[in-house]
Amino acid sequence: MKILGIETSCDETAAAIIQADKSAKKVKVLSNYVATSLALHSKTGGIIPEVAAREQVKYIIPVIEKALEGNSIKDIDAIAVTVGPGLIGSLLVGIETAKTLSYIYKKPIIPVNHLFGHIYANFIENNLESRVHNSELGDIKFPLIALIVSGGHTDLVLMKNHRDYKWLGGTRDDAAGEAFDKTGRLLGLPYPAGPEIEKLSSTVHNDYYNFPKPLLDSNDYDFSFSGLKTAILREIQKVKVMDKITTSNICYSLQEAVFKILIAKTLKAAKQYKVKSILLGGGVASNQTLRKEFELEIGNLKLKIPLFVPEKRFCTDNAAMIAAAAFFNYKEQSWKVITANPELYFD
Ligand code: KG4
Ligand code: ZN
Repeated sequence: MKILGIETSCDETAAAIIQADKSAKKVKVLSNYVATSLALHSKTGGIIPEVAAREQVKYIIPVIEKALEGNSIKDIDAIAVTVGPGLIGSLLVGIETAKTLSYIYKKPIIPVNHLFGHIYANFIENNLESRVHNSELGDIKFPLIALIVSGGHTDLVLMKNHRDYKWLGGTRDDAAGEAFDKTGRLLGLPYPAGPEIEKLSSTVHNDYYNFPKPLLDSNDYDFSFSGLKTAILREIQKVKVMDKITTSNICYSLQEAVFKILIAKTLKAAKQYKVKSILLGGGVASNQTLRKEFELEIGNLKLKIPLFVPEKRFCTDNAAMIAAAAFFNYKEQSWKVITANPELYFD
């Protein structure tokens, strides 16, 4: 079976084709293309929805054409498309294109929740260095715990199998990536700030600021990162000259605070629910320090649980993860009933 995936929830326009046999445990990516309007948003320090949607319109056909190169659309069995969460204007570009293709070529559509896409990035076979810790324990097994850390979301999800899942908790305010991006803006770093914060932090070895770690020991699986931004702003106001060393120190301490919380809560859930795998997903998961600190703590706690992290191109928004999610949760729908749901979450 071949599935064409389409992802346009935010500022990336992505199309991909995946292939898998019915009983496959992972999917193979045949093509994967992403166009991004990020450069435009860097100038404004954040995404302007209207601008993102207009860029989606520009890119959608060329990106799908590129993904289909060497494959006939007639050989595609289904079209997977992100229906939410995301920006309404951006979502509609992908959805209306998928509907049109579905109508013309008589292909079923499988609507996909973008958040599940981030989890299913781990079910891609051609992930390089995907399994980064305790690899001797084998491939992904259920029950598993998935941590989604992106620009818009921070969620912990327990999955007993592909269809049986439970949302354990999420952020009460800012997402992990958002904490990075907002701090980046305060420090004058380019948007999105995550990669730059990772780079600057790599030159530091001391948690100089030791920022607060909200909800670290709370009895739930909730997160709260908006207070960090305020704590950082207070420190910035005290600084007379913001040189590179000070900026890097702030970045490092921010990373430490966010990662300590993410790791503590994820591993607490892993222990409580006796999971057999831990999966990370979303743009923040491409951070090498996060991966390393996860590995270290899994080792410290002597947990015999493998950790899976997709390779970078499958952590950030892409369409291969959307097609992969559709393959494992195959629910065909007619183009007539597919709609965008910007507020879509976990039921
Ligand atoms: O998953 P993603 O591409 O888009 C959303 O669905 O939100 O995630 C984007 C987020 C941004 O907040 C960005 O700053 C963050 O991921 N990010 C990183 C890194 N690369 C991207 N955060 C920390 N370290 C990174 N290397
Ligand atoms: Zn995303």
